[in-house]
Amino acid sequence: MRLPKAGTIEIVPSVLSADFARLADEIAEVTSAGINIIHLDVMDGHFVPNITMGPPVIARLRKVSELVFDAHLMISDPAKYAEPFVEAGADHVTFHIEAADDPRRIVDELHDLGCSAGICLNPETPVEAIEAVAPLCEMVLVMTVHPGFGGQEFMPVAAKKIARIREIVGPDIRIEVDGGIDPQTASTVVSYGADTLVAGNAIFAKTDRIAAINAIRKACE
Ligand code: DX5
Ligand code: ZN
Repeated sequence: MRLPKAGTIEIVPSVLSADFARLADEIAEVTSAGINIIHLDVMDGHFVPNITMGPPVIARLRKVSELVFDAHLMISDPAKYAEPFVEAGADHVTFHIEAADDPRRIVDELHDLGCSAGICLNPETPVEAIEAVAPLCEMVLVMTVHPGFGGQEFMPVAAKKIARIREIVGPDIRIEVDGGIDPQTASTVVSYGADTLVAGNAIFAKTDRIAAINAIRKACE
């Protein structure tokens, strides 16, 4: 599976706020809302103060879902783990600029493995840090919360970086936003130039997930 070409708005549920004991069912439910991409948050307890899933979980999910798997690696030493995550079934792998010694090399490796590449920056990281590597990626991920937990409040200052990133990457590279996205903040980040909206709590904390996805979609129109 490939990321949809840039130019469409994609609502991307993050399973971090889903019931981990029922992941397959949770993914099936949001799939019925017509989404194309699912966001899989990988945390190592080192780069961020929380631990979630690794390649074995993604490999099992791969057997039950045909969505594009968007793996967000919030881990130290991402170079070491690019290959295991691609082998497990990730279609797109995003790593953090703050964790990478040689980001260009990781992007090249992901491409050689047949996977699209994403670079991510934390709220306090300036745009200049990704300026050289962003144009080599298929998607840039802008964190609008400090990574590690779902359900945090959106940081407007971090979102303002989107407009500058859009100038740097042009129209053909996706800009994904992660953290505190709901119908209101979604419309703000789309106005700045984002097209790929990750939402955890705003979808999985609701009883009607399909209505929640549609509400975010409608707010972006
Ligand atoms: C946080 C993760 C997010 C998280 C977002 O570190 O990267 O993907 O699930 O959750 P919400 O949408 O609840 O802020
Ligand atoms: Zn994420």
